[in-house]
Amino acid sequence: MEGFLQNTWYMAAWESELAEGKLSRRIADIPMVLFRNAQGELAALVDRCPHRFAPLSMGTVENGNLVCPYHGLGFDQHGKCVVNPFSDKIPAGSSVRAFKVKAKDAIVWVWLGDESRADESLLPDYSFLNDTSTNRVLRDYLKLACHYEYLVDNLMDVTHIEWAHRKTFGGRGLVQHGKHETLQNANEVWINWSFPNVPKQPIPIYPDEQIPWERTDMWIDTRWNAPGNVMLDIGQTAVGAPREEGLKQLLAHIVTPETATTSHYFWGVARGVNLDSEAEDRRISGLLRFAFEAEDVPLVEAAAKVVEGENFWDLKPVHLGPDIGSTRVRRTLETMVRKEADAAKPAQ
Ligand code: FES
Ligand SMILES: [Fe+2]
Repeated sequence: MEGFLQNTWYMAAWESELAEGKLSRRIADIPMVLFRNAQGELAALVDRCPHRFAPLSMGTVENGNLVCPYHGLGFDQHGKCVVNPFSDKIPAGSSVRAFKVKAKDAIVWVWLGDESRADESLLPDYSFLNDTSTNRVLRDYLKLACHYEYLVDNLMDVTHIEWAHRKTFGGRGLVQHGKHETLQNANEVWINWSFPNVPKQPIPIYPDEQIPWERTDMWIDTRWNAPGNVMLDIGQTAVGAPREEGLKQLLAHIVTPETATTSHYFWGVARGVNLDSEAEDRRISGLLRFAFEAEDVPLVEAAAKVVEGENFWDLKPVHLGPDIGSTRVRRTLETMVRKEADAAKPAQ
């Protein structure tokens, strides 16, 4: 697909990554530096000094301004040059582009496009990541060597669990017994799977011995918001019992493009059980990291490599049916990018 969506929220970082004060990260091909000013307000600027182009992220935050490490120009959270060590005058053209930035649910979000359209109600809901009174949250980050849509494909099609995750959650013949439905509300897509009356399944935060039923009704609901913001609601309950009586876990999988061929993969999981157990932290983190890093990522990167330089649809990917969620997401995103590009074209 040509170009990255601009009028959308991209996850730039976990808020905890800014504990050190500043962070350099390329988002959708824009080098960006994130920092906090003296009041603790977040800022996201282009990571390039307008003088001799040193990365501002190599500088220091002084009195709440980001000071260039090369010749000392200082910038406030709006990207305005406010310190010139050589004169009282601020030279023309010395501002740096600033992006709308918002911290919510322990996530730092940035908006690349028209700031007047940066509607905070469009931020996808990941409040479970922030509810630390009843939850314990694990967060992680992986780097991907492929376009982000290839990982979104993977996340929106749970059938891969059976084959790609043979060493962790798959290999049990589960997916062939599931039913799925796809729902779409404007630009939000859900693909919801149910697996009625199946042998109980270990899900990472509830190992086998913590699941009290031998057979269960299981579900995996997956939500997508543009561009690569995915949430999974996975659970199981006694056969015929309501979901509220079951055991469930929520996962965030958020993929942000770095470039056309590399991506940032943020994942987080919240649990409402074993809240004080560091041993459980290690077990769950180890299991999930293995599943994502050793099972998903190599396949996704290899598939993207095979088709490098080709147009995805020109290759006529086979439709299997359950891949409807991935297809719907690709089509929805393409429509959003095309509409944005059309709107940006000058009137004829
Ligand atoms: S490159 Fe930043 S002040 Fe010169
Ligand atoms: Fe996976």
